[in-house]
Amino acid sequence: MDMDKLVSLCRRRGFLFQSSEIYGGLNGFWDYGPLGVELKRNVRETWWRDMVTRHNELEVPPGAPTAYEMTGLDCTIIMHPQVWKCSGHYDLFHDHMVDCRESQRRYRHDQVRGRWVEAKGQRVFVTTMAETDAEQQEVEHRALKFFHLRPKDADQLRWDGSFVTLPHVDDLARVLGPDAKQLGTLTPPREFNLMFKTYVGALGGEDSAAFLRPETAQGIFVNFRNVVDSTRVRVPFGIAQIGKSFRNEITPRNFTFRSREFEQMEIEFFCHPSASADWYRYWRDRRVAWYTDLGLAGERLRLREHGPEELSHYSTGTADIEYAFPFLPDGEFGELEGIAHRGDFDLRSHMEGKLDPKTCPLELEKGPDGRPRWRGSGKDLTYRDDLTGERFIPHVVEPSAGADRAALAFLCEAYTEDQAPDEHGVLQSRTVLKLHPRLAPIKAAVFPLVKKDGMPEIAQEIYRALKPHAVVFYDEKGAVGRRYRRQDEAGTPYCITVDGQTLTDRTVTIRDRDSLAQWRVRVDDCVDELRKLLSAGDRTRS
Ligand code: GAP
Repeated sequence: MDMDKLVSLCRRRGFLFQSSEIYGGLNGFWDYGPLGVELKRNVRETWWRDMVTRHNELEVPPGAPTAYEMTGLDCTIIMHPQVWKCSGHYDLFHDHMVDCRESQRRYRHDQVRGRWVEAKGQRVFVTTMAETDAEQQEVEHRALKFFHLRPKDADQLRWDGSFVTLPHVDDLARVLGPDAKQLGTLTPPREFNLMFKTYVGALGGEDSAAFLRPETAQGIFVNFRNVVDSTRVRVPFGIAQIGKSFRNEITPRNFTFRSREFEQMEIEFFCHPSASADWYRYWRDRRVAWYTDLGLAGERLRLREHGPEELSHYSTGTADIEYAFPFLPDGEFGELEGIAHRGDFDLRSHMEGKLDPKTCPLELEKGPDGRPRWRGSGKDLTYRDDLTGERFIPHVVEPSAGADRAALAFLCEAYTEDQAPDEHGVLQSRTVLKLHPRLAPIKAAVFPLVKKDGMPEIAQEIYRALKPHAVVFYDEKGAVGRRYRRQDEAGTPYCITVDGQTLTDRTVTIRDRDSLAQWRVRVDDCVDELRKLLSAGDRTRS
């Protein structure tokens, strides 16, 4: 699939726009348009329903060690600064960046890619920030310029090895930066904290500095006691939250994949330490099934278990659910969601003070004065099982997903080009978004075949009847074939058309977006028929 075509469709049909576009846009920020907002709401609502409101705590779901409860939270974006000190984000949440002394640009160290090339007796590492499909063309162009060669002399360039990222290059003096004309203008990598800083209140000094949350998870940890005390939840249980997170990514890229403002859908699942490995496996498999049921089946979706060298020593398992986004090089996958066993690291850090993740067993991290580096809340975040009397710090399994990345993956998977007959029965190429009906922004469109003979009145009667039950769209403008095409591009699974026959027997056609099958139903049965069609795909297995 050609990513440019999807990006163009998203813009043309109102799924996604660059933020502040009329002022030239703001890198790393995206606005969801009229269709996009419905798609993203459907991603969020499907997640919330499947994970929280439809969860039946009286039954043991397939694959779960026991029955469990689920509840939710909606926390603030700005929290007490101590939260981020104890969570580790203040000290550890950084990427490595390099600056270019010539162009004054800044890049993420591991995102600068390039190739070694030799010409006129000089060996140079030519870099680029271009997308994968354009990077060879870009480095060749830059190498020719650097060596003062003309395009017809391209055979004088001797390429050595394939593309690698900057961390693989030791000698920065031989690097031609992505926007530089001279060699050796990139600085050595430096740490850059990804949290956005702001100031609370009118004074504006360092005492009032705060951060926009880089993840929703910490709001759940710091409310653990409140939830246990204010509800009757018992371990094992999960707390879910959906909300905005902010990361000052050095080089946001690949459409919405790496944004600076994005939305997360996170669950912190609290369980007894002895059962945490089983719960980890349950959540890993359940989350994969959620994506599969919503249409991300096939080779482009995979589960990648982290090897022991990638795991924190306190974690018994971490896995990423990954998707082969079309903007990535062949064979590469991008993270959609991480499922991590986090042990008692978070609750203990907020209770006792920031723990040192490198210690085993976990110990309080100390400052140069031998005192705790960051003091915890001192509040009791242990849990007492009222049946057994046992008191313990629950272990946590964290399935952490991104709503924007999920929406992007669903769009990529849905984008299809095929052929469909027009109103004269002639095959025409069409672009169709084969979105799962639960995710589709519009569930059905209603058309009168022509704008006369009482057809619009009947179509509007159907539209009015459907409106309370689903997001539907009425369209009477232009040729009916073009109206079908517009709905195919929007991902609308069903089109209902009032035609000549309707005037005699009050039946209409329903057209299925994917199979193109058409069948007739009575006008008065349209609501029931659409409900039946939508409810058939309304439940995911997970
Ligand atoms: N609490 C754990 C946590 O935040 P993460 O892997 O950093 O883990 C979880 O983020 C998910 O959030 C990712 O799998 C991804 O879907 C989404 N995400 C993270 N950074 C993002 C960004 N810059 N733009 C869009 N989505 C992002």
